[in-house]
Amino acid sequence: MNQVVQEAKRAAQELDPVICSCFKVKASTIRMAINTGGAASCEEVRELTDASSGCGACACRVERLLAGFPAQCGPCALCPACGHISKLCQCQCA
Ligand code: FES
Repeated sequence: MNQVVQEAKRAAQELDPVICSCFKVKASTIRMAINTGGAASCEEVRELTDASSGCGACACRVERLLAGFPAQCGPCALCPACGHISKLCQCQCA
């Protein structure tokens, strides 16, 4: 893939990261569930978006968004290129 396209894709993903890799739910979708849909808990976000209804690994990121913090937290951060948990990522994008 062209390097410019990769950089643009990475920048876009950093602005609106995938929060739930199981269901490909982005931060903007969860923020919409909170701000427009009135979701006030992880369960309500789950009902509206499916985020955290699979493996559950993204629940801490959903909770961070509910608390008004950025989604990315250290050990749970997702790779901006492939969306998998960074510690397990093998896409060599970084
Ligand atoms: S990463 Fe969200 S349910 Fe698995």
